[in-house]
Amino acid sequence: MIVTFRSLAYLVASLLFILSLRGLSTQESARRGNRFGLIGMVVAVVVTALALLIPGEGGATVAPDVTVVGVLAGALGIGCLIGALLASRVAMTSMPELVAVLHSFVGAAAVLVGIATYLQAGGFDPADRAAHLGEIYVGVLVGAVTFSGSIIAFGKLRGKIGSKPLLLPGRHVLNMVILALCVAGAVIFHRADVAWPVDGAGFFDAGMPALLIMTFLALLLGIHLVMAIGGGDMPVVVSLLNSYSGWAAAAAGFMLSNDLLIITGALVGSSGAILSTIMCRAMTRSIWSVVLGGFGSEPAKPPAGGGGPAGKVNEATVDQVAELLLAARSVIIVPGYGMAVAQAQHPVKEISSLLTEKGIKCRYAIHPVAGRLPGHMNVLLAEADVSYDIVKEMDEINEDFASTDVVMVIGANDIVNPSAEEDPSSPIYGMPVLQVWKAARVVMLKRSMAAGYAGVDNPLVYNDNTLMLFGDAKQSVTKLLTALRGGG
Ligand code: TAP
Repeated sequence: MIVTFRSLAYLVASLLFILSLRGLSTQESARRGNRFGLIGMVVAVVVTALALLIPGEGGATVAPDVTVVGVLAGALGIGCLIGALLASRVAMTSMPELVAVLHSFVGAAAVLVGIATYLQAGGFDPADRAAHLGEIYVGVLVGAVTFSGSIIAFGKLRGKIGSKPLLLPGRHVLNMVILALCVAGAVIFHRADVAWPVDGAGFFDAGMPALLIMTFLALLLGIHLVMAIGGGDMPVVVSLLNSYSGWAAAAAGFMLSNDLLIITGALVGSSGAILSTIMCRAMTRSIWSVVLGGFGSEPAKPPAGGGGPAGKVNEATVDQVAELLLAARSVIIVPGYGMAVAQAQHPVKEISSLLTEKGIKCRYAIHPVAGRLPGHMNVLLAEADVSYDIVKEMDEINEDFASTDVVMVIGANDIVNPSAEEDPSSPIYGMPVLQVWKAARVVMLKRSMAAGYAGVDNPLVYNDNTLMLFGDAKQSVTKLLTALRGGG
């Protein structure tokens, strides 16, 4: 009866997770999708906890003694508290770092579950023993790569580790050697385990040394794979690690014989892989180059002239930009990372509403990797209540720049860099970008001549039809709004 209820609850939770992913696929349904995911997770946690506390058929599950209740309540309470505190404090711009840390937790959990399961290996049915050992070995391997890779990704995103790729000589051979050693370790692990459990066997007996050495090698592999990836490819790495964390969770599900964990892990693993593929396509990277690390990630060049201007720049005043906007028939706003940092989305929305009221066609162009996390700009614009109808993805709007009067680039840089199309020597050559330079006029709002995330100079700023409005995006946009309202 209890088992049936648990299976039913797991089925409901799985369906809720699927509905959640479906909801997250469009902006309009994203909030609903989030709610489905939340309810699914509550169902999953409550039912799993109850299954641990209430003895099942044949008394197979843990008895509800005070220690178990105490440990479980303590772990859940402390975990929820830390999670809620961290998530409520994290700035939108630091979200990828939080995601990377959370992936590392999943990886660490898979490693610990694997080692703990192996310590109980004597309890396995001999018929399923080989399969269980395989689950343990693969789960620990994927978990360890995910753990160390995510920690390095966190360090790179936070700026604690340089964003330049670490390209060791013979790095692919090194990766292959580590992988080959892990495969050899699997054979030793399986053979050694024949004797397990032996009377008086200690922690380091039977297959445990092979398992621990492989864990160490897998940790090294995770570090090396992510260290070899350049700053421009970091978004793909985060989504790839998301996928790895899903597979690690699925492996933990097999070890714990928990169907829900298997289903959830598979959902996360496959959706992360699909997202990585889509992002790779958006950045013209091969998924394998990112998986294997280092391919095609040339170290970024510093901006020409050591960060100073490499040509003549046309600087504009707020009033000039306001005049230009009011004289336009069509305007496209391109938001980027700087808009997120400055939190300028609300006054930007006021500007687009005002222009629309005046009969000027005003839309937003969103690059798939604008900002620092997938969907970053969409989230900010949704927060500012910008109508979804005027928010266009790159493929929908790229052809319209040529017939647009004014493009306002707010805190964006790499995603509007023409050298991605025109300069084969550029580190970002081949990455699809928003072709803003085709518009009659481009206004760039940023604080200085500094480069963007990829550290590459942007020739757009020296174009004759580009005007620079220097300053913090929020301050510039607020002044612009006042000028547009006639108060400037
Ligand atoms: P970036 O190329 O990073 O350029 C942002 C620009 O904003 C900078 O040049 C900076 O110039 C300006 N800025 C910063 N703070 C500002 C402020 N307070 N006010 C005004 N301007 C400000 O951003 P992007 O064009 O959005 O491109 C995204 C980049 O990040 C890509 O290279 C992408 O690969 C990478 N990336 C993306 C993700 C995801 S998933 N989206 C994750 C990791 C990395 P100033 O300093 O001169 O103001």
